[in-house]
Amino acid sequence: MYCYRKVTEDLYYVGGDDRRAALFEGVYEIPRGVSYNSYLLKDEKNVLFDTVDPSVAEVFFENIAHLLDGEKLDYVVVHHMEPDHSATLKRLMEYYPDAVLVVNAKIAAMIGQFFDCDTEGRLLTVKENDTLSCGRHELSFIFAPLVHWPEVMFSYDKTDHILFSADAFGTFGALDGAIFADEADFEKDYLDEARRYYTNIVGKYGVQVQNALKKAAGLEIAMVCPLHGFVWRKNFDWYLGYYQKWSTYTPEENGVVIAYGSIYGHTANAANILAAELRERGIRAKVFDLSVTPAADVLAAAFRYSHLVLASATYNAGAFVKMEDLLHDLAAHNFQNRKVAFIENGSWAPGSAKAMGKILEGCKKITVMENTVTFKSALKEEQRQALVELAGAIAEDF
Ligand code: FEO
Repeated sequence: MYCYRKVTEDLYYVGGDDRRAALFEGVYEIPRGVSYNSYLLKDEKNVLFDTVDPSVAEVFFENIAHLLDGEKLDYVVVHHMEPDHSATLKRLMEYYPDAVLVVNAKIAAMIGQFFDCDTEGRLLTVKENDTLSCGRHELSFIFAPLVHWPEVMFSYDKTDHILFSADAFGTFGALDGAIFADEADFEKDYLDEARRYYTNIVGKYGVQVQNALKKAAGLEIAMVCPLHGFVWRKNFDWYLGYYQKWSTYTPEENGVVIAYGSIYGHTANAANILAAELRERGIRAKVFDLSVTPAADVLAAAFRYSHLVLASATYNAGAFVKMEDLLHDLAAHNFQNRKVAFIENGSWAPGSAKAMGKILEGCKKITVMENTVTFKSALKEEQRQALVELAGAIAEDF
C-alpha cells in the first residue's frame, strides 16, 4: 500500500525506509536503518527525481502509481547512478515507457554500464546550467562531480527554490514517518549519524564538496531535498555549517579521540590513563577500542575533534591489525589538519609508532607531537609519568 508525504503543494516524497539491511555499501553498519529518497513533482509535465534501492521498491512504485493516477510520467531526473538510487531505474522505464530520462553524458554512459536496455529516444542529455520547463516549474542542473561519484548532478527548482542535492546533506537513519528535519530532534538524534554518513561516504572529496557548495551559494534556497535523510526547510544554515567544517577538514570542537589496538589490555590501560589525565585538565576525551568499534565510527569521531591519539601494540613488526585498518581508512578519506600523538607497546621490539606514522605520511597537514610514549609489555611508573606529560602537552593546545 502507498505511503508518501507531501513536501509542497505539488511535490511528494515517494521513497521509503529500510531498517533491515545490516550494512550500507556492504561495509557501514546501519543499526538505525537508512532512507532512500525519491520525489515526484506534479506539474504540466510530471517529473520523478531518482529511483530507489530495491529494498523499498514496492512502496515506491505504489506511491508513484497512486499519485499519477493514470497520468503520464514525463521525466525522470537521474542525479546519481550508484545503485542505492538507480537499481530500480530499468524497472521504472518498463512500467513508464513514455518517461524520458534527464541525464548528463556521464550518467548516460553509466546507464549503459549497469543495464542492458534500449535508451533510444529516451534520454534528454543536459549540460551544466541547462534548463527544463515542466509547466509552472523550471528546473536547472548543477554538476557536482565526486559528490559522491563523478557523474553526480544536482537539480534546482527555480520556481520554488528547491535544491535536489543527491547524496549531499544526507544522513544514515530511517526517518520514522518524518520527512522534514524540523519534525525530528536532528541535533540529538541524527547529527552523529549525519557525520558518520558524510565522513565515510563523501569525506574523501572535501575539495569537490566545497566546489559544489560554492555553486549552490549563489542560489536562493528555500528547501533542500537529499537522497537520504531529511528534507531541510528550516535552519538549513546550521546544517550547512557542519558541511563547511567537514569538507574543509576543520574540527568541530576541541577534544581528543584516543583509539587503541590492544591485545591483552596493557595498551588499553595506557589509553585509559591518558583519558583520565585529560579529563583532570577539563579536556573532552573519547576512547575507542578498535577491536570492538568499527573504523568507520572512529573516523567520524576523528573528523569531529581536534586531536587524535593512536595507541597500538606492536604486531607482526608493525601496528596492530585493527589499528592498520583505521589508519588506512583515515588516509583513504583524506583525513588532515589535525594534531596526532602515538603510544606504542611491544614486548621485545616496540615499532608500532613508526608503522603508524608511515601510514599517516600520506595525509596532509598532520602535526605529529613529539611526546610518543613507548613501553614494553606493561606500564611502569616511568611510562605512566610520560602519559601524564603527554596529557599536559595536549592541554597546552586548549
Ligand atoms: Fe546514496 Fe552515492 O549513493
